[in-house]
Amino acid sequence: MAAQINPSILSADFARLADEAKAVEGADYLHVDVMDNHFVPNLTLGVPVVESLARATDTPLDCHLMIEAPDRWAPRYVEAGASSVTFHVEAAAAPVRLAREIRAQGARASMALRPATPIEPYEDLLPELDMVLIMTVEPGFGGQAFLDIMLPKIRRTRELIGKHGLQMWLQVDGGVSAATIERCAEAGADVFVAGSAVYGAGDPAEAVRGLRAQAEAVTRTAAWACGH
Ligand code: DX5
Ligand code: ZN
Repeated sequence: MAAQINPSILSADFARLADEAKAVEGADYLHVDVMDNHFVPNLTLGVPVVESLARATDTPLDCHLMIEAPDRWAPRYVEAGASSVTFHVEAAAAPVRLAREIRAQGARASMALRPATPIEPYEDLLPELDMVLIMTVEPGFGGQAFLDIMLPKIRRTRELIGKHGLQMWLQVDGGVSAATIERCAEAGADVFVAGSAVYGAGDPAEAVRGLRAQAEAVTRTAAWACGH
């Protein structure tokens, strides 16, 4: 089955965002990390930058909201042009209502889990979502080392998706590189965010193609993907 690569512009040059978006035009989505300095100890960009970026690229935007009060802000990111909006379940007051609102606006709704947040309490919410994001680093910064201890959670999430017969995507974010992407795919991920592994490469577009080829070599034969 197909594997998707979403380059994270957190590792791009923020003064040249339009060019940096064009540098990865073969990517499936462009991953946009929104941080508010409250939910995570870092500050990046907000609605006006997403609006500009949406005008500057044909690649759909995958907005990862690492912010407090996503119930209030997530709909603004759909209006700004995001095709997919991910909120952190730890910050959402009413995740079901929020997911329904995002979908009603015409975007894909996605729920993210920090490394210490288990998937099991949210099993019944999965049908309300288009994607689950399992963080494989503590959110806040690019360039951190991949947390191997998240692999069992990726496996369990993939099992729950299969158990409910859902078509939703399973995204991983943090430390995904040529050295770790195969382990993620084997565990059940099919959407891969990569920041430093793409923008730190000499040729970002080539890095995207390389990562996709590595992931697809695994998902073609992975036990969890059979029947997809
Ligand atoms: C971290 C962000 C990631 C980050 C990943 O909190 O959510 O999207 O850009 O960067 P790398 O791929 O360098 O770990
Ligand atoms: Zn992210």
